[in-house]
Amino acid sequence: MATALKTIRSPKVKHTECFIGGKWLPSASGKTFSTVDPATEEVIAEVAEGDSADIDLAVDAARRAFDSGPWSRMDARARGRLMNRLADLIEEEIDDLAALESLDNGKPIRDSRAADLPLTIDCLRYYAGYADKIHGATIPVNGNYFTYTRKEPVGVVGQIIPWNFPLLMTAWKWGPALAAGCTIVMKPAEQTPLTCLRMAALAQEAGIPDGVINVVPGYGPTAGGSLVKHPGVDKIAFTGEHRTAQIIMREAAESLKRLTFELGGKSPNVILADADLDAAAAGTDFGLFFNQGQCCCAGSRVFVEDRVHDEFVEKLKKLAANRKPGPPLDKETSQGPQVDQAQFDKILSYIEKGKNEGAKCVIGGERFGNRGYYVQPTIFDNVTDEMSIAKDEIFGPVMSVLRFSDWDDLIKRANNTFYGLAAAVWTRNVTRAHDFARRVRAGTIWVNCYDVFDAAAPFGGFKMSGQGRELGEDGLRAYTETKTVTINLG
Ligand code: NAI
Ligand code: MG
Repeated sequence: MATALKTIRSPKVKHTECFIGGKWLPSASGKTFSTVDPATEEVIAEVAEGDSADIDLAVDAARRAFDSGPWSRMDARARGRLMNRLADLIEEEIDDLAALESLDNGKPIRDSRAADLPLTIDCLRYYAGYADKIHGATIPVNGNYFTYTRKEPVGVVGQIIPWNFPLLMTAWKWGPALAAGCTIVMKPAEQTPLTCLRMAALAQEAGIPDGVINVVPGYGPTAGGSLVKHPGVDKIAFTGEHRTAQIIMREAAESLKRLTFELGGKSPNVILADADLDAAAAGTDFGLFFNQGQCCCAGSRVFVEDRVHDEFVEKLKKLAANRKPGPPLDKETSQGPQVDQAQFDKILSYIEKGKNEGAKCVIGGERFGNRGYYVQPTIFDNVTDEMSIAKDEIFGPVMSVLRFSDWDDLIKRANNTFYGLAAAVWTRNVTRAHDFARRVRAGTIWVNCYDVFDAAAPFGGFKMSGQGRELGEDGLRAYTETKTVTINLG
């Protein structure tokens, strides 16, 4: 009986078209693209390939819903209720959505069921609670005037997301936008459009008015680029590679759109000799290998204090050996395939670079199996700061271990990157922990933990890891404009 339940049944794909103004539409060009199961390299479904004509329709629908539609007249509290209803509907379909996410992205079902889905639901509920608590201030100004501020929605927002957490990124983007009263045109990643489309269907079922949420699947430079350039869009919120963000910034310059970016990282994860080494090893393993290493905040530079280096690397090796690559819908699988051929090729090329540059591969270092985009959990030891595996974001299950002995030098090395997304330190020394938190230039610092996320805790990057913050109150503010009103009382 246990074996019968071991593997989840493959979920049905219900939605593959553009969702515009509450209607399911084929792309204007009639073109489609394939979304592929990364575990088998087989096509799951053909999906409408949106382009500028579809983006035009979607922006029109979003504009109408924002400027004159029911969304603009709805009480804030009612908006919050609809968001909670959407969260409820996702919860009712949690198993099916988790399976669909695992099918399209390749992540193990145990992860999508335990992490992606609960975090998605929690994010929507968190922001639903904000909908009726967004307000300005009354401000004492000189003279006989009454001045107050209003926090108004920024308008129509274009949201472009990647493939590593398709549902969760949808929630991170929709949550604050809907709470603030914005309307949305979303372009999901071409690798993983299916769960976002399902969520759009659930939003409609929840009663969110037509035109408030529009989803146009398609490629980056075409559908994404049209959204970025569209004069009817007030803001772009983007998650992905910093090079893409540079293109977006240039293309958004014409209409001076508001921009928020959540980009990549090369996050330092530092283990001091006084740490609880078993806990640190477990957290380090999780901090890099979770989600097949496809995390913007992956702890990909593991700095280990000299004195405990050998012992710690042994622990890491044992943990990596325990990872179980396998079919994503198998409940025992703890590592799935990479998302696509391009990522798979990129990761294998970095593994080759690591070997050629003289790092010591202590485990893994090859593809896993001969079907699907699987890469063995890989650890490189004796990595030095100038090696490309220590500098570039690999976005795969490849860990680089570096040594350190001097604390001030360590802080310098941790900061020696154009990224600044996250950093972690494992220690029992509270002074060291605070010193690290103060001196490392990164948007998130974890002490004796890794990858602890909460809808209430702001997340984003220093330096080239991003602009602005998502989640928490900061995340909400990124979807509002402040309007100052002054009344002459004389
Ligand atoms: P990407 O940044 O190209 O793609 C992310 C999203 O942007 C997708 O929806 C894509 O269609 C869209 N996009 C691409 N070009 C665009 C353009 N010119 N205008 C508007 N939208 C555009 O990332 P990609 O190619 O999937 O992955 C490349 C590398 O980026 C990865 O290997 C990884 O290092 C990094 N990455 C970082 C992520 C993060 O969470 N910070 C997520 C995904 C990738
Ligand atoms: Mg790209």
